[in-house]
Amino acid sequence: MNTSPNFDFNNDFPPDFTWGVATSSFQIEGAHDADGKGPSIWDTFCLDPANIKDQSDGTVACDHYHRYREDVGIMASLGVDAYRFSMAWARVQPDGKGAWNEAGFGFYDRLLDELAARKIRPHLTLYHWDLPQGLQDEGGWLNRDTAHRFADYAHEVARRFGDRIEAIATHNEPWCTANLGYGNAQFAPGVADLKQSIQVSHHLLLSHGLAMRAMREVGSRAKLGIVLNQWTADPATDSPEDRALAEFEYARSTAWFMDPIFKGHYPELALRGHGANAPEVRDGDFDIIRQKIDFLGCNYYFRAWCSSATPPVPAPAKQGVTDMGWEIYPQGLPELLVKLKAEYPELPPIYITENGMANPDKVADGHVHDPQRIAYVRSHLHALKQAMEAGVDVRGYFLWSLLDNFEWNSGYSKRFGIVHVDYATQQRTLKDSALWYREFIAARARA
Ligand code: FCB
Repeated sequence: MNTSPNFDFNNDFPPDFTWGVATSSFQIEGAHDADGKGPSIWDTFCLDPANIKDQSDGTVACDHYHRYREDVGIMASLGVDAYRFSMAWARVQPDGKGAWNEAGFGFYDRLLDELAARKIRPHLTLYHWDLPQGLQDEGGWLNRDTAHRFADYAHEVARRFGDRIEAIATHNEPWCTANLGYGNAQFAPGVADLKQSIQVSHHLLLSHGLAMRAMREVGSRAKLGIVLNQWTADPATDSPEDRALAEFEYARSTAWFMDPIFKGHYPELALRGHGANAPEVRDGDFDIIRQKIDFLGCNYYFRAWCSSATPPVPAPAKQGVTDMGWEIYPQGLPELLVKLKAEYPELPPIYITENGMANPDKVADGHVHDPQRIAYVRSHLHALKQAMEAGVDVRGYFLWSLLDNFEWNSGYSKRFGIVHVDYATQQRTLKDSALWYREFIAARARA
């Protein structure tokens, strides 16, 4: 029975395809200092109102720390198979080194219990940008030692929880940590220094490799991998300048993180372009980084559009833009995945770990009509199916996001959820897109 809006796309994905929703700790948990949690760099970053568009912060967010049962109940009502979330490092190790905080682990223990009771499989991300401030005080990701602290943390989490979690990703979008956190100061810790950002990207990759090794030592059942934000890069025109720009953009972003993991070196083109800003790499670093991963998480929102003109030639945006101003370009997803498959023969199974859109949603009479989001998700799923038909091994899709939440430097001004959150009352309201997703999942082919 097709009762929800715009239900006209058959779910012909494989019966065992994983359908999920995604969130991250800082964006939803709140409880910023509860039960011994230490401050993270995002707590600090929000203290300067100039950093966040609506001068908000993550102290309460969606209060998920206290409402996780209700939120897992919502997931269960949607019929999702899996939930991707992240752990707040400073909750379980307040200073990022030294003593563990049992009360902090207690929260994730309860969350995992609740998910198990609802038969929702957990996909954990260890680092979704909220570095313990204590480590930042010692240089953060610019300090190579942070990579070793991260490996200790990964080891402890895998030891405690590895057998109760389906998949553990080391990092979420290290490109953003490096480029937005250290390149243009839009994200915590708010540094604008190209050379530092490139060194940080190397330490993030190193920390990924060290954490993979540390978690393998534990020998848990969890599949281990990393989540990258990835895009193809298209030249605005056929001019040699635009084409060169697009090639460089691809090399410094998608390939910059993929090549070390799968080929054991940085892409030559990007290294040349970085010149004196190229990172310091020590002997043996690439052996550490180039670990076999069990899965690759791919976050896809848009393509890169490269124009050397002033002012730049805008992207065509034939299917419109989202409330973030991001071009809607579903075709970029299969283009990206097919390209990755061709370039990396050792590519493991892929999960689309994030995809979704911001929309200025409003509750009216208890409903939220967001046909734009339904169209967005449908068109991306349609495109994803093309990639799979072209032979790319994709195992699952996680919609970003379950809830409206704290969208980093945009604060609460951008709504990505399929569930609306009224921040004054913490009332959750299923948007039409949630109802659509529920029906879409329920309509999957039977094995
Ligand atoms: C991704 C982030 C996620 C969210 C979405 C919109 O880059 O991983 O936390 O902010 O964008």
